[in-house]
Formats: sequence, C-alpha cells, structure tokens
Amino acid sequence: MDFSFLSDYSYYFLTGTVNTVLIAFLTVIFGVVIGTLLALMKISSNGIFKFIASAYIEFIRGTPILVQALIFFYLIQIPDFKLFGLEMARFIPGVIALSINSGAYVAEIIRAGIQAVDRGQMEASRSLGFTSGQSMRYIIIPQAIKNILPALGNEFIVVIKESSILSVIGIVELMRSADIVKSAIYRPFEPLLVAAVIYFILTFTLSRVLGIAERRMHTGD
Ligand code: ARG
Repeated sequence: MDFSFLSDYSYYFLTGTVNTVLIAFLTVIFGVVIGTLLALMKISSNGIFKFIASAYIEFIRGTPILVQALIFFYLIQIPDFKLFGLEMARFIPGVIALSINSGAYVAEIIRAGIQAVDRGQMEASRSLGFTSGQSMRYIIIPQAIKNILPALGNEFIVVIKESSILSVIGIVELMRSADIVKSAIYRPFEPLLVAAVIYFILTFTLSRVLGIAERRMHTGD
C-alpha cells in the first residue's frame, strides 16, 4: 500500500466529494418534491391519479438506476456549459435521473408515514368538527412527519451511495474521481479505498446526526 499519491491528487478527491454531496443534496430536495406529489396522488380517491402514481413507482423501482441514468443521459441533450466546474450536459441529466428514481422511494416513505397514523385520529378529529382537509393538516400530517423525517434522512444516505452510479455518465463525483486517479497512478486499490473511506465518513456522520435529531424529536412524545 502506498498512499503517497495523496499529496498530488487529494484535490481530485476533494472535488469529487463536494460534487457527490451536492448531487445528493439536490436529489433529496427534488426527490421529496416528486415523492410528495406521488404520495398525495396515490392516497387520493381519484382513480387516474392513483394509477399514474402506482405505475410510476412500480416502474422506477422495478428497473435499475444504472439503466435509468444512461437513458436520461442520452435523452436529455443540452448544450454543454460549465457551472462550478461541472459539465452541465452530464450533471443535469444525472441529477434528473437520480431525483426521479429517489422520488419513487420517497413517495412510499411518505405514503407509509401518513397511513401509519392510527385511523382513530382521523375519526376523532372529524367527530370534533374538523373537515377532512383540516384533519389532515392539523392532526394527521404533524404526526406523520415523525414517521417520515427519519426515513428521509435514510434516503439521503442511500442517495449519497447511489450517486456513485452517475460516474458511468462521466460526472466527476467521488467514484469518478477515484477512477481518474486510478488511471493516473496505475494503481487500483488505494484510490478505491480512499473513496470508500470518504463515502463511509459521509454516511456515518450523517447517520449519527440523524440519530441525534430523531432522539430529540421523540422527547416530545
Ligand atoms: N440500487 C437500486 C437500483 O439499482 C436503486 C436503489 C435506490 N434506492 C433508494 N432508496 N433511492 O435501482
């Protein structure tokens, strides 16, 4: 093992790490927007909405993200320009593909979180004179959030790891950075180990922070 390349190449890992975090962060935000819409469609009483949401969720969860990323990369052809050193012709399709993928999982997190609130809460709320919209807003959603937030944090962790797939479309995130260094120094193990350790630091830190946040949230119970 020889890690002396780090003095020359640490900049690559730093850039890769920043880009990985940026991709994951954007994906979680877009994923939550898409997921919320899908979850609302799925629990609505409108048959067409229900069907569209179910079809989306099943199809996205039933096909590999690797295939989805490549499809979006070839589908979305935009003129290339750089923003913060990132090639947008790769970055934009990549983040879209990952967000669309994550949205399907987030939809299920939100739907399950809402449906896990006891039915009696809705019945009690209605019997006190709230409309169903008001019951949703003041009684159900605040309780559902306690189920949803921890799972969303988990999704963030998953997305950090899944974003490594975007290296196949040439986005210079952490995995791709390791690949570049690997080719430059003709050694595969050390750059890959460095990437693995950085991924672990990101996910482990995040899971610790989430653990603390979750405990805080439950002190209210
Ligand atoms: N590994 C899965 C795939 O290849 C994607 C899993 C994404 N999971 C998630 N919770 N966003 O399709």
